[in-house]
Amino acid sequence: MEKLTDLTQLNLEKTEQKPRVIAIANQKGGVGKTTTTINLATAMAAVKKRVLIFDLDPQGNASTGLGIQRQNRRVNAYHILIGEAPIREAIIPTLIPGLDIIPAGVDLSGAEIEMVDLPRREFRLRDALASGDLSHYDYVLIDCPPSLGLLTLNGLVGTHAVMVPLQCEFFALEGISHLVRTIERVKKALNPELEIQGIVLTMFDKRNNLSDMVASDVRGHFGDIVYKTVIPRNVRVSEAPSHGKPVIVYDMKCPGSEAYLHLAGEVLRRERDLAA
Ligand SMILES: Nc1ncnc2c1ncn2[C@@H]1O[C@H](COP(=O)(O)OP(=O)(O)OP(=O)(O)O)[C@@H](O)[C@H]1O
Ligand SMILES: [Mg+2]
Repeated sequence: MEKLTDLTQLNLEKTEQKPRVIAIANQKGGVGKTTTTINLATAMAAVKKRVLIFDLDPQGNASTGLGIQRQNRRVNAYHILIGEAPIREAIIPTLIPGLDIIPAGVDLSGAEIEMVDLPRREFRLRDALASGDLSHYDYVLIDCPPSLGLLTLNGLVGTHAVMVPLQCEFFALEGISHLVRTIERVKKALNPELEIQGIVLTMFDKRNNLSDMVASDVRGHFGDIVYKTVIPRNVRVSEAPSHGKPVIVYDMKCPGSEAYLHLAGEVLRRERDLAA
């Protein structure tokens, strides 16, 4: 298991830009975006990184999965994107020391339509992140919704890097090719510094040959940007959100938690190498 002390070593290295923004995106639903966002953020916070999650999904699963009650979401991602409130007013602490969140509210689905008529509609999130003083955070992780609409576009324009969770199933490669083309278009037209931090294989089922086939296809196609760590399908991971806790807190020793701690080690190492 990736030891917290090993991860802590990585904390000694400072990244250049603070905060560094990573969007977790895949237009396909249910591939593990939110689970990855919550647990990566928790693992980073466990090694003393200061982390802010931006819940960009109207479903609000990251907010619920971190135990944020509806009544605490009065100022939320919607108000930030529309420009009705400064970003600091939407930030609330989670039960994890060092991890804060900007929650989603039900009104966020309306933002997708309302933003169409607002100035700099693709840059609303980027501008909001730049306007608040967030320099005490090391990382902002953006949990994107399962679409390539204006919300996700704001996520891709407002970030330095994208992490793509990919479920080990039959159509995985086709879906991701579409996403990669979108990322390239956004990079060309709207966000020249955009890069792919990595692709993480999720819900890997070792009893299923298809999981192996998909994993080797994806590695063959994308090479080293695919993380070595694979997240296994693990019932503890799916139970944790109903307790309002990251699985790393709910059951630190289960295979899903071990995998997410490993993943955090890989991500932080990549970050260190990129900053070097
Ligand atoms: N490794 C895993 N093992 C078992 N269940 C998992 C695992 N990862 C995620 N799940 C479950 O699968 C479902 C989808 O995961 P998650 O919500 O993270 O995906 P998502 O991509 O954010 O979905 P959406 O596109 O709807 O936002 C959830 O019920 C989650 O608890
Ligand atoms: Mg989600």
